Amino acid sequence: MPTPTTRREFVRSIMAGTALSAAALAKANAEMAQSITSLNMKYLDDEAPDGAYWDAVRAQYLFEDNLIMMNNGTVGPMPKPVFNRLMGAFRRQAENPYDVYNFLPSFREAVRTKLAAFVHAAPDEVALTSNTTEGINFVVNGLDLNAGDEVLISNLEHPGGIGPVQLKAKRSGIVVKEVPIGPPHGDTAAIVSAFEKAVTPKTKLIMVSHTCFITGLITPIKELSKMAHDKGLLVLADSAHGLGIMDLNMHDMGVDFFCSSPYKWMGTPCGIGLLYVRKDVQEKVWPTVVSSGWDRTTGARKLDPSGQRADAMILALDEALDFQNRIGRVRIERRIKALSGRLKQGLAKTPGVKINTPADPYLSAGLTAFALEGVAPAKIVDFVREKYNLVIRTIGNTAAGTAGVRVSTPIFVTSKEVDMLLEGIGQLARNRS
Ligand SMILES: Cc1ncc(COP(=O)(O)O)c(C=O)c1O
Repeated sequence: MPTPTTRREFVRSIMAGTALSAAALAKANAEMAQSITSLNMKYLDDEAPDGAYWDAVRAQYLFEDNLIMMNNGTVGPMPKPVFNRLMGAFRRQAENPYDVYNFLPSFREAVRTKLAAFVHAAPDEVALTSNTTEGINFVVNGLDLNAGDEVLISNLEHPGGIGPVQLKAKRSGIVVKEVPIGPPHGDTAAIVSAFEKAVTPKTKLIMVSHTCFITGLITPIKELSKMAHDKGLLVLADSAHGLGIMDLNMHDMGVDFFCSSPYKWMGTPCGIGLLYVRKDVQEKVWPTVVSSGWDRTTGARKLDPSGQRADAMILALDEALDFQNRIGRVRIERRIKALSGRLKQGLAKTPGVKINTPADPYLSAGLTAFALEGVAPAKIVDFVREKYNLVIRTIGNTAAGTAGVRVSTPIFVTSKEVDMLLEGIGQLARNRS
């Protein structure tokens, strides 16, 4: 194979991986794309929970025999087209690193633009981080917050959000105040009002989960941002799960900072993340990980961590965005909410179940958290794994009244599998002593 020296040749080679596998990999990805595209025409208005459309989507994943993944926390699965693209990129690095360091970074801006369009933002409002935790650290570390300044957080934050504000408190003397928002969660007005009541003249920032990992609450960030901006405060949303669940619109939400991890629901490998920074507040944040040109880089790009990174992740993100766009953000959100709605309805009819997730689809999406009175959460997790090879996880803690299990309802599970889980919970409920 001739050494690729032009960008076009490089693009061709990096898409495909190797001379040996080029045709096969490119053909496989093209066929998978086509299978969804043609079904899009056929099932334009079809909202049936199961059937040919979603079976075709499921077929694009690599699950080992009969594994039913209903936990998208920590890390979710990559669909085959993303995996193929990733392997092709790493293979290229093994064969010819020169190409990788010379040409690969040129993809970064195109992928940034595609990701920005995906979340309804401008390209210069998007930083490509490694994960949600990194994004939150960059914002909290980079803001000029001084001793006595107050930051509001909810009582349900993830350690990836709590750690950065605690560090800032220790180092700079900021004051972190916790605002209780449930469970049970109130409606949108009640959640916004809980934060509003905690605001003082010293409050500068609200740092809150958009996708609450403990209860599955989708915090009403749009309404919260409106209240906060009326009072001159900034809002930082931790949406670790958000990419790939919802049709996210940064400009409509009005949020200042928004962090997400696309390897949970959107099918990328670990190691790539979104940090959105609203144009009007970019001047307020210092970059954290810098190298040459740090003082000339503008926009959210200045928050891209410097130093050599695994550029294969950028290509995998590109493929994951194509995968999602082919199915469509609205269709994905509808499917995920239809499945979680079915789960919540079934759970509500099961004796002894306490659901911690709001029923309102505006305040919830793909994460459903619940407890079964008299049954330890770990027992539920083990029972459904043994009986159905179905993966869910324990969540929360007893002291806070949130101990239970959490179920994800992603696009690659069926309503039959949701019913299977409900059957298992029903059996546990009947057999309680
Ligand atoms: C709400 C929330 N925030 C932050 C994180 C940390 O995410 P990451 O490890 O991808 O940075 C998680 C992980 O599940 C989460 O659920």
